[in-house]
Amino acid sequence: MTDQAPAAATESPDIPGKPIAASRTTLSHIMTHNDTNLLGTVHGGVIMKLVDDAAGAVAGRHSGGPAVTASMDEMAFLEPVRVGDLVHVKAQVNWTGRTSMEVGVKVLAERWNESAPATHVGSAYLVFAAVDADGRPRRVPQVIPDTEQDKRRNQEAQIRRTHRLARRRAIMDLREKRAAEGIED
Ligand SMILES: CC(C)(COP(=O)(O)OP(=O)(O)OC[C@H]1O[C@@H](n2cnc3c(N)ncnc32)[C@H](O)[C@@H]1OP(=O)(O)O)[C@@H](O)C(=O)NCCC(=O)NCCS
Repeated sequence: MTDQAPAAATESPDIPGKPIAASRTTLSHIMTHNDTNLLGTVHGGVIMKLVDDAAGAVAGRHSGGPAVTASMDEMAFLEPVRVGDLVHVKAQVNWTGRTSMEVGVKVLAERWNESAPATHVGSAYLVFAAVDADGRPRRVPQVIPDTEQDKRRNQEAQIRRTHRLARRRAIMDLREKRAAEGIED
C-alpha cells in the first residue's frame, strides 16, 4: 500500500467515469444447517464470505476486470442470522482511488417465519485493488455518485481512507523509531 494522500477525482482523466448504479449488485442466499455455529445461528464467516463475494463482483464490474480484496477493515454484525433466512447482500462502490475502490456492503435477512420487512443484520467496508493479468494494480474508472445518499457515502469513504493511511503511517513511524533505538521484538 503506497503512503500517499487520497487520490483526487481527476487522477484517471483518460478513463471515463462510471455511475455507482452501473456496478451495484445484490447477492441472495438461503441459509442452511451447513452454515451454523455451535449456537445454532449462522457463522459469521459464512456471512463474511458472501460479503467478499458480493463486493468482489461489484469491484470487477466497476473496474472492468479482475480485482482482489486488499482489506476488510470494518465488519459489523448487528443481529443474528438463522437457518432458513433469505439473506440479501447489497454491495456498491463508495469511492475510487487510482487503482483501488472502497466497496460498501449491507446485509439484510428476510426471516423465513416472519412477514416483517428484512432486518439489517450487518455492514462492511472493503478495499479492492484492480489488477492486470500479472497481478499488478491497474487504474480504475472514477466512480460518479449521483444521489445525496451516495455523495454522503463517498465522503465517508474518503474519511475512512484518510484514517487507513494515517494509521499505517503512525505504525510505520513507530516501527522505524523502535528499530532506530535498537529495540528488537
Ligand atoms: C492488493 C495488492 C494488489 C496491492 O499491491 P501493492 O503492490 O501494495 O500496490 P499499491 O501499494 O500500489 O496499492 C494498490 C492500491 O491498493 C491500495 N491498497 C493496498 N493495500 C491496501 C490495504 N491493506 N488497505 C487498503 N488499501 C490498500 C493502495 O492504497 C492503492 O490504492 P490507490 O492506487 O487507489 O491509491 C497486493 O497487496 C495483493 O495482491 N494482495 C493480495 C490480494 C489477494 O490475494 N486478496 C485475496 C486474499 S486471499
